[in-house]
Amino acid sequence: MNADLLLTGISQIATAPKPGPRRGAAMNDLQIIPRAALAVHRGCIAWVGPESEWHGQATESCHLGNLAVVPGLVEPHTHAVWAGDRLADFEARSSGKSYEDILQAGGGIRSTIQATASAQKDQLLTLTLPRIHSLVRSGATIIEVKSGYGFTPEAELKMLETIALLGQTAPARIIATLLIHIPPTERSSRADYLNTVCDHLIPEVAKRKLATAVDVFIEKEAWLPEEAEQVFRTTQSHGLSIKLHSEQFHSIGGLELGVRMQALSIDHLEACNDRTIHVIAASKTVATILPGVSLHLGIPAAPGRKLVDAGAAVAVGTDLNPGSSPLHSTAEALALAVRLNGLTPQEAFIAGTVNAAAALGLADAGSIHIGAPADFLVLHGGDWRDLVYTLGANPVAEIWISGKRITL
Ligand code: NIG
Ligand code: FE
Repeated sequence: MNADLLLTGISQIATAPKPGPRRGAAMNDLQIIPRAALAVHRGCIAWVGPESEWHGQATESCHLGNLAVVPGLVEPHTHAVWAGDRLADFEARSSGKSYEDILQAGGGIRSTIQATASAQKDQLLTLTLPRIHSLVRSGATIIEVKSGYGFTPEAELKMLETIALLGQTAPARIIATLLIHIPPTERSSRADYLNTVCDHLIPEVAKRKLATAVDVFIEKEAWLPEEAEQVFRTTQSHGLSIKLHSEQFHSIGGLELGVRMQALSIDHLEACNDRTIHVIAASKTVATILPGVSLHLGIPAAPGRKLVDAGAAVAVGTDLNPGSSPLHSTAEALALAVRLNGLTPQEAFIAGTVNAAAALGLADAGSIHIGAPADFLVLHGGDWRDLVYTLGANPVAEIWISGKRITL
């Protein structure tokens, strides 16, 4: 075996034993290879195993100083492109106003839409890149980014074009999602808006390959399940996947719709109940939980423990956005999922790697296996659990993408 690079001096490699989502009790089965080595060839993993079993030839080698190696994290849910801020909302909420009250009064998401719609693409790119760099520093090597602060088709396309530019500029792999976020304030304009989305926006996005999935926010203050269904039918007819923001504050039928239409993931789930937990657990749809939202808004945490116990494939993301989760660290989202959602460290690890990859339709990403792109992290310590234990400091020492160390 020949390799470009051999990494030795690895205290342990922790990874899902194979690619693909893990559900229920299987979320606890990590593979730990002590005193490991990793060979990289042409940007991909060529060999992995105990160091004593390596008998190949490598052009270069690097001793990592007895630190742990884990796969690059997959960040399955962000709204990283925005302009303006939500500091006034934050302050108002600290004196008792709720997120939903602010939204109903025309603020919240609508104020971010105004600020984002009036920004130019290069301004948006300049605002977004440092946020992406924070996520990468925290270990994310694949990052989903949604539109949704555009509202008009032109402004949504501008957001997606910005995300495409990010894909060319950022060190991580960027996965774009079109988000149909909130409806026009006039009830009578909702149907027209949906028709424009279905007749013009989605076909254009599909034709220009600006997104791989379409997401709809289903909630009392947003879209109804039957409205979302129209969007999803069009989405599927253009060969794109579907995702949902659902059960954040209320359970109004979004989860059932998402499962019925075989969504890649249903995200939020703070208002999931015992019945709907079993509905998603019995499906292939990934249950993506977002602990940063519970921390920032003070709403109940999604029932992560119950979802895993019921057999669901659970993923975790930051939901990085200015209104409900200004959390810029994917590793910290996993750490919070252990504290707030009741996941074990092993479950949080799987939730942030192979299950988050499945939430993006990436069946092969999130594990260290032969043939995969060499995307991995070197931690500051010798034990993988530091990744989901550390709060307020970065457990990640080095980020490697396609076999190259990233400097930010
Ligand atoms: O995932 N709930 C809907 N959308 C975003 C928040 C967007 C915002 O508040 O700006 C979310 O929480
Ligand atoms: Fe979100």
